[in-house]
Amino acid sequence: MSQHRDIKKVTTHSLLEMKQAKEKISMLTAYDFSFSKIIDDAGIDVILVGDSASNVMAGHISTLPITLDQMIYHAQSVIRAVDRALVVVDLPFGSYQGNSKNALETSIRIMKEAGAHAIKLEGGAEVLESVKRILSAGIPVMGHLGLTPQSIFKFGTYTVRAREEAEAQKLIEDAHLLEEAGCFAIVLEKIPAKLASRVAKELTIPVIGIGAGPGVDGQVLVLHDMLGITKEFSPRFLRRYLNLYDEIKAAVGRYIEDIKSIDFPNEEEQY
Ligand code: KIV
Repeated sequence: MSQHRDIKKVTTHSLLEMKQAKEKISMLTAYDFSFSKIIDDAGIDVILVGDSASNVMAGHISTLPITLDQMIYHAQSVIRAVDRALVVVDLPFGSYQGNSKNALETSIRIMKEAGAHAIKLEGGAEVLESVKRILSAGIPVMGHLGLTPQSIFKFGTYTVRAREEAEAQKLIEDAHLLEEAGCFAIVLEKIPAKLASRVAKELTIPVIGIGAGPGVDGQVLVLHDMLGITKEFSPRFLRRYLNLYDEIKAAVGRYIEDIKSIDFPNEEEQY
């Protein structure tokens, strides 16, 4: 018998219904079992197993080094914890840009080996053939436009994208292409709020923003950033809900003190 609770699961279809009902969609990243369990229990709608794992879990300076096997390991851990949320997994850099056959094989591995519910990839017209091929296998695809961190060495910086008319126009066209191809949602990262709001209004599928203002259909943040585990990353769009770095450091400091002073373990904490 399944041990999972009888809970109404979030699907790509329910996200569309939320947009139609003007209910905002909540999304966070997660990469492991324990945090995924907490945020799923808290009622998050979508969990993204982001390739930001490359930064916050592995300590790389970009998202480029993380491998497909590593993404699958993170996704398996997340899926084991989740009862309700829709779990979307990023295709890592180099696993889909080459050709659409490669993109489909990558996506199939993620769906089969991790039990993911959908995949996400970065780019518009350049990856359209891959998007269509993945969709043709029945795998739901989330797009990602604006600041696409896998292209950081092309952009050169993590500053706001699509401020200029030509780039904004391309972003609008790409968003429409992704919707027409059959993507179920799109992430817009670090672009002007007005542009993001326009895209969300023009599309029928949900648009989830990160640093894209309030006029979109939902918001996503990196879990370690909003919990204040990462300290040095402080973009304007980030709202920190905790300062876990400082709290954990203080707790570990007290633990060390208790050991050194032979206060821990006490009478009740031994056999
Ligand atoms: O990998 C990630 O965390 C992401 C979000 C920033 C949307 O793609």
